[in-house]
Amino acid sequence: MPQILMVRCVMVSQMTFPLRLAEIALEVETHLAALLTKGPEGGEIERPDRLLDAMRHAVLAGGKRLRPFLTVETARLLSHGDTCGDGAALFRVGAAIELVHCYSLVHDDLPSMDDDDLRRGRPTVHKAYDEATAILAGDALQCLAFATLADRKTSSDPAVRADLVLGLAKASGLGGMVGGQMLDLAHEGRYGEADPDIPGILRMQAMKTGALLSFAVEAGAILVQAEDAACATMRAYGQAVGAAFQIADDLLDLESTAAEMGKRTGKDAEKGKATLVDRLGVSEARTECDRLLDKALAALSGFGDEADILRDAARFVITRRS
Ligand code: IPE
Ligand code: IPE
Ligand code: MG
Ligand code: MG
Ligand code: MG
Repeated sequence: MPQILMVRCVMVSQMTFPLRLAEIALEVETHLAALLTKGPEGGEIERPDRLLDAMRHAVLAGGKRLRPFLTVETARLLSHGDTCGDGAALFRVGAAIELVHCYSLVHDDLPSMDDDDLRRGRPTVHKAYDEATAILAGDALQCLAFATLADRKTSSDPAVRADLVLGLAKASGLGGMVGGQMLDLAHEGRYGEADPDIPGILRMQAMKTGALLSFAVEAGAILVQAEDAACATMRAYGQAVGAAFQIADDLLDLESTAAEMGKRTGKDAEKGKATLVDRLGVSEARTECDRLLDKALAALSGFGDEADILRDAARFVITRRS
């Protein structure tokens, strides 16, 4: 590795978690903005202004960018920092996953779903535009995510691109995020089904939130073509962090404020959402978060200091205030 990159890798590895999260967020934002330019890009006919504006509203300015962070840091860990010279590909993959995440939020906020008017401190897309535009913006964000992964700029290796596309499709579709969102609505009692038991709630959360977050981790491993064993280790870490992430979100919905969160709080109880917090109470839900943190840390036990940033990320997930 050239000297200058080596120095940069050492500096990056010594950064604290909040600084590194902010640095990655900035870089991801640049990539996201570049994907959402007026265009049209090769193979496209036109990018309608209203749709593009709504997509930019959904994606740019705001968000923790935790999923891209996990992609980038997992790749760095498994390649011992050697990916530093080829950061663009990593950030493209992180940006693609963030696009799916943003689309999921746009649709999650729709009147027919959680009916929210505030997201990342701003009006939700259907409030700032209208419902039809919000649905289409979500659709187009999803397509853009897959186009980004399938592009040769992301990897020159077609097998890597195919694995990324397949992994994202599974994490975000019928048996992943979208399936979980269906179960989340069903658990409100809209379709006359019985209240779910605790394993049912955990499965729904593993799908609606855990699958994409865990794939963000796995994608870093895929991109650096890690061994199967390393992929399995990182998947275990990602699944624990993903599960903890949604329980923490549900705790924050109960205990935080819109000013802190940038989205309305107190909505889960109002909507009759099935959550662990509702079923077990705050204290037991926190205990479950702690248990999941231990699980995430245990998954990383084979690594030394170089995995500290991912350990900090897991701690952040359960202690965050927004
Ligand atoms: C919110 O995700 C939706 C859930 C999966 C609970 P984030 O808390 O990561 O939202 P942003 O991206 O930071 O806005
Ligand atoms: C959303 O869960 C999970 C998604 C797949 C978007 P929530 O409905 O709890 O997310 P927030 O609280 O609206 O961000
Ligand atoms: Mg929801
Ligand atoms: Mg919601
Ligand atoms: Mg929530």
